[in-house]
Amino acid sequence: MAVDVLLGLQWGDEGKGKVVDFLAPKYDVVARFQGGPNAGHTLEFDNIKHVLHQIPSGIFRKGVVNIIGNGVVLDPMVFQQEIDELDQKFNMDLRENLYISEKTQIILPTHKLLDRAMEQAKGEEKIGSTLRGIGPCYQDKIGRLGLRIGDLKENFDKKYDELTSQHLKILKSLNFVWEDDFQTDFLEAIEFIKQYKICDTEYFLNDSLNKNERILAEGAQGSLLDVDFGSYPFVTSSNTIAAGACTGLGIAPRNIGEVYGIFKAYCTRVGSGPFPTELNDETGEILQKVGNEFGATTGRPRRCGWLDLPALKYAIMLNGVSQLYMMKADVLNDFDDIFICTEYELPNGKVTNRLPYEINDMNLKPILKSFRGWKTNLHADGGFKALPTELMTYTKFIENEVQAPINMISIGPDREHTILRGEGILSQA
Ligand code: IMP
Repeated sequence: MAVDVLLGLQWGDEGKGKVVDFLAPKYDVVARFQGGPNAGHTLEFDNIKHVLHQIPSGIFRKGVVNIIGNGVVLDPMVFQQEIDELDQKFNMDLRENLYISEKTQIILPTHKLLDRAMEQAKGEEKIGSTLRGIGPCYQDKIGRLGLRIGDLKENFDKKYDELTSQHLKILKSLNFVWEDDFQTDFLEAIEFIKQYKICDTEYFLNDSLNKNERILAEGAQGSLLDVDFGSYPFVTSSNTIAAGACTGLGIAPRNIGEVYGIFKAYCTRVGSGPFPTELNDETGEILQKVGNEFGATTGRPRRCGWLDLPALKYAIMLNGVSQLYMMKADVLNDFDDIFICTEYELPNGKVTNRLPYEINDMNLKPILKSFRGWKTNLHADGGFKALPTELMTYTKFIENEVQAPINMISIGPDREHTILRGEGILSQA
């Protein structure tokens, strides 16, 4: 058995939560491998909508073990709030089937203050962080200062006080003032976490593999926000690409199986940074409105634009994507014409299909190819074959360009709004 990896190929918000929830019944284990509460994975079923930030999206499927891996950064307060909500809304007790790696880094209240202070200090140059303390927490991890869930076992208070006082010195040097008192809730949340299964999840996962169990690694954010390959510095602070599943879970590269690449039929981005196909016009507004493109974590409006093939190809290359899932095709239902960017024109007039290093500083002009819109509502009945010809033309063009099959098209937020290739409607996986 292998570990299948599911990740986003754009700037996040591709709809990964829906797909993980949809695929989870095929798996014994779902494991989050990076990111933290900057993520907002939205799931809809039985007329219920739920957003998960820290907890893996396999949690709604009975019998599936969910793991928060070592590559994740965990905010204890968000965790406690999420668990409480799941309990209130769905009467769920996750103490049996949720495991947290003892090597998962802890987001401290001062990490969130530092995130705000650093963004404030950057002024116009700000990254547009979700201000969830992600960057400062990963900074401490790499700086070998961070606190981990395993530290809850012994001397936590002492280690916490030491690191917090270092943070306070930095905050003072940045002249950052705040009023919030997070400490009491944080320490309560730290106690709360202790009820959950904390273990060496890398052993757990490799034992599962040896028992031939099926594992799905769940990514957060998107490949174009990867700290190495995204539009640095307008990125998140983790490796969001498939390789991150190895380091974020303790899985050897040879154990990776399928790589599911999730992308929207168009593009969105939240926060600052380059976005070559961005539409700063009425069309962009329509995409935003019809697609309900507002951040699941921060509520910020998402910037919208046409599908960007050079960026998609880049992400597919970095991840070794074996199959593609195209999300939110229904958002394009009413367009007369739909466009795909096939190449970029550089300021010197040269044309390229590669992402240039200088992408942050140069104005790339997208070269667009137009497609006829399908101008009809999409239905899952009848499966792939019953989809409008115009949508099939759009889909086949993408497949040919990127040389990977689109095996699923999502036409709405609910589990039911899902069409798998070859199998027609699959209401429950
Ligand atoms: P951070 O990860 O909160 O530091 O934010 C860094 C950049 O990544 C910002 O532009 C955020 O808007 C973006 N970002 C972080 N997490 C997500 C996500 O889950 N979806 C979309 N964008 C995200």
